[in-house]
Amino acid sequence: MNSRKRVAILISGRGSNMEALIAAAAGDDYPAEIVGVIANTPKARGLESARMRGIPTRMVPQRDYPDRAAHDEAIGAVLEELGAEMVCLAGYMRLLTPAFVERWAGRMINIHPSLLPAFPGLDTHSRALAAGVRVHGATVHFVTEAMDDGPIVAQAAVPVLAGDTADALAARVLKAEHRLYAQALAMVARGEARVEGGRTVFSATSDWGAEDALYSPAPDAPVSLETLDLERLARFTP
Ligand code: GRF
Repeated sequence: MNSRKRVAILISGRGSNMEALIAAAAGDDYPAEIVGVIANTPKARGLESARMRGIPTRMVPQRDYPDRAAHDEAIGAVLEELGAEMVCLAGYMRLLTPAFVERWAGRMINIHPSLLPAFPGLDTHSRALAAGVRVHGATVHFVTEAMDDGPIVAQAAVPVLAGDTADALAARVLKAEHRLYAQALAMVARGEARVEGGRTVFSATSDWGAEDALYSPAPDAPVSLETLDLERLARFTP
């Protein structure tokens, strides 16, 4: 019996989070399988790497459709054809129509490179540096109509270090994203995190703890992530 959730990933670019989810789903115990990757633009380099990993891919270019609603309908048809039960947005750079969001309510998650509700939108890393925050990170949340909004599933924090550039900070956050997204998808796929009344509720069996959110990768994390140096971090944490 296959009880793994059938997950499709929507991308617009490089696809490193997509790769992390594909890698996690290759594990026997992982509660989700990646049944397809869909891109909205030929610029989505990730589509090729998904194909190379044996995942079904579809290109649904937005320029082929008269408006957002028609494009989202086409995406919806592909999701149906793939038999998707859940959708992961992974660097999908297009706002979705309310009808599409409604159809996938509670079954669609997104990753955003900041600790929401801080820094929704673009250029999160340079904005975090400009704001002078000492801790930055990433958020996985259920998708609602508002951009980078919606009930939070999980977050990972990384320190902002003296002398950081936006690129250095982005690289640190991205590593955390890869592990975070794999863990967050597992929680949702297992039903350990779900939306009720506009908020995420977590089951008692959820193994997501503060240690997961704060820097330290679990030893059995499905996606390998450079282990962060906790002693060094402690020196930067007030
Ligand atoms: C990630 O930083 C993600 O949080 C944001 O877009 C970026 C996509 O990167 N939504 P990748 O395509 O997954 O490498």
